[in-house]
Amino acid sequence: MQESLDTTTVAFDEDTGVGRVTLNRPDALNALSGQLTQDIVESLRMLEEQNDDEIALRAVVIEGAEGNFCAGADITEFEDASAGASAERTHYRFIREFPVPVIAKIEGYCLGGGLETAMSCDFRFADEDARLGLPEVDLGIIPGAGGVQLISELANPAAAREIAMTGDHIGAARAEELGIVNRVPDDLDEATQEFAEKIASKPPLAIQAIKESARISTQTTLEEGIAYDNKLFEPLLSTEDHEEGARAFAEDDYEPEFKGR
Ligand code: COA
Repeated sequence: MQESLDTTTVAFDEDTGVGRVTLNRPDALNALSGQLTQDIVESLRMLEEQNDDEIALRAVVIEGAEGNFCAGADITEFEDASAGASAERTHYRFIREFPVPVIAKIEGYCLGGGLETAMSCDFRFADEDARLGLPEVDLGIIPGAGGVQLISELANPAAAREIAMTGDHIGAARAEELGIVNRVPDDLDEATQEFAEKIASKPPLAIQAIKESARISTQTTLEEGIAYDNKLFEPLLSTEDHEEGARAFAEDDYEPEFKGR
């Protein structure tokens, strides 16, 4: 499946279970217009619809067209402040709560709302020349979709202060060192695809539960989080995929096929 919306393209490869959403406003460095944020959500919904009688969608890659991930909120829409602000925040939480892992593939500029979009994803793979930052301070505002909170969570509050207060761009290597970026591979396309396919080959209900557990982990005490994991754990014991995984463990040369049941 491959379809174009106004400002995204969306593709699904049924052989691997990997979906792809491409932000497609290259003339504005893929800045997040109200339309683009709506199209990101719509693209993810379209991918979810691939789950017909079994879970077909197993991982999603979000990328930007023509060498840039995203240069942040569309500054030209700031005049229409209230409409822009509410539309602008719709896709971040949608990605965080999306039941399938989402990988941000970052090339070029990844700034402001672009970095907040990437940090709302489960993984960030970046090109060595990528530039990341939170430049909102120079517009007299703060990152409005949790940029400071998210860097505090992924790296530490000192790094969040530095990046948000200076507005400076940092390189991919520094972002990796801080834990904001997972990998800076030599071949970004190949590494992102390989990683997406690896996650896509795992039992989807377990992957979904791990995503949920990791999301909850920053919102609870350790004991509450462990109790939550216990609730996620029990139903997985009676899934067909658990049986399939146990069989593959017991039998040499048995290649498991997970169905999401
Ligand atoms: N919103 C709307 N348009 C944007 C944009 C944004 N956030 N970022 C870039 N663009 C547009 C530029 O206006 C320009 O359009 P034009 O060709 O019609 O003039 C085009 O994208 C290319 O940008 P340009 O500034 O010419 O490229 P550059 O290589 O000189 O600089 C940046 C790139 C990313 C450093 C610079 O565009 C920038 O600082 N953008 C704003 C980033 C920002 O503050 N984001 C957070 C907003 S809250």
